[in-house]
Amino acid sequence: MSLKVVVIGGGSSYTPEIIEGFIHRYESFPITELTLVDIEKGLEKLEIVGALATRMIRKSGYPIKLSWTLNRKEALQNADFVTTQIRVGGLDARAKDERIPLTHGVIGQETNGPGGIFKAFRTIPVLMDICRDIHEVCPNAWMINFTNPAGIVTEALLKYSPHKKVIGVCNIPINMKNSVAEMVNCEAKDVEIEFIGMNHFVFGRKVLIKGIDQTEEVMDKLIHKEIDYSPANIVSLGWSKEFIQSLKLLPNPYHQYYFQIEDVLEKDLKAFAENGTRAEIVKEVEKELFIKYQDKELQEKPKELEKRGGAYYSDAACSLMDSIYNNTGDVQTVNIFNQGATTGLPNDSVIEVNALITKDGPKPITVGELPLSVRGIIQQMKAFEQLVIEAAISGEYLKAYQAMIMNPLVPSEKKAKILLDELLEAHKDYLPQFSIK
Ligand code: G6P
Repeated sequence: MSLKVVVIGGGSSYTPEIIEGFIHRYESFPITELTLVDIEKGLEKLEIVGALATRMIRKSGYPIKLSWTLNRKEALQNADFVTTQIRVGGLDARAKDERIPLTHGVIGQETNGPGGIFKAFRTIPVLMDICRDIHEVCPNAWMINFTNPAGIVTEALLKYSPHKKVIGVCNIPINMKNSVAEMVNCEAKDVEIEFIGMNHFVFGRKVLIKGIDQTEEVMDKLIHKEIDYSPANIVSLGWSKEFIQSLKLLPNPYHQYYFQIEDVLEKDLKAFAENGTRAEIVKEVEKELFIKYQDKELQEKPKELEKRGGAYYSDAACSLMDSIYNNTGDVQTVNIFNQGATTGLPNDSVIEVNALITKDGPKPITVGELPLSVRGIIQQMKAFEQLVIEAAISGEYLKAYQAMIMNPLVPSEKKAKILLDELLEAHKDYLPQFSIK
């Protein structure tokens, strides 16, 4: 029985993470063929990661046939699962996404605000091409997307690409569960958090530990900073008692950009002045990682990879593939169409929600009404996300302007135009859909 997985963006520094995930799950998810795919510009990294993956698989003793290539269509032949972890324009483009807004006193971040808008504008056309290839070459394959902004791009693909077997994943929900488990000293499998909202804007509404509602206790520990589920790329500022007790929801780390904007802007402008942006810090981490990856003695995922914010994403991606393959019906948090699970959002909008994972894909578990306290901002953010998608697909300037002005982190219509024009110019090589005026 063959089981082929293709990793697009295979030269990513995260790839050892997913290789480790495949090795750990081999007994239940016995991959026979694994192909890493990248682009010409990423060939050197692909060779380094491919050699490390070869050593990791050899050490495992599992008969996984590993290869790597720049020929995506050839790689996709007979694929059962395709994961996507790409960064169009690389970290240099991300640095502009972060740097340009910050120079105008606006949040500059990988997936939020003007930076997130342009990450989506660069990424959606490329992932659309990948989906067209998947639909042509391996139409029964599941595309598991980890590429950011994961929720927005997953919705764009489900709406506009011919391939409908697309699921978005993120490590934030799994980080939140793992941190709660660590704090109450139980196993992550005993923690259930009911999520409501969208990727990087999702709230935790209920926490069950071994089936017992412990929401109040967990919220209390959040207030007293006994728990911090922030990934490496986000420094938590902590949450006030009033914020938690009034909303009765667990914020996710990215909510700091919306509810703590002055403090975050002050922190980020200071960091920007002293060490540059997060992308520039990550570039240093990447250099260190790729030196380490070339060590012929290295046969495992190095701990240094935990310095990246996306660490442990492979748990989300690999357990999802494993459960689809085995039709387990277990509950995982995924980015899929709402399909009525949350009232107050369009059924064909992508939400980050708990779902039963079956061989036919995730079945969303009903969460019901959006809580009044966050209904307005969630609906505004979803409408904003859909404006981003319309602009990314159409390449129309005024649609891009709409997305920019409707983002809660953009303070004025004047700043919206300044940022839109500067970012369109800065990224023009990666924005074929926009005819630069
Ligand atoms: C978080 C998010 C990812 C994001 C990553 C950035 O964990 O869940 O979506 O890409 O951090 O980490 P980095 O190390 O690249 O700043």
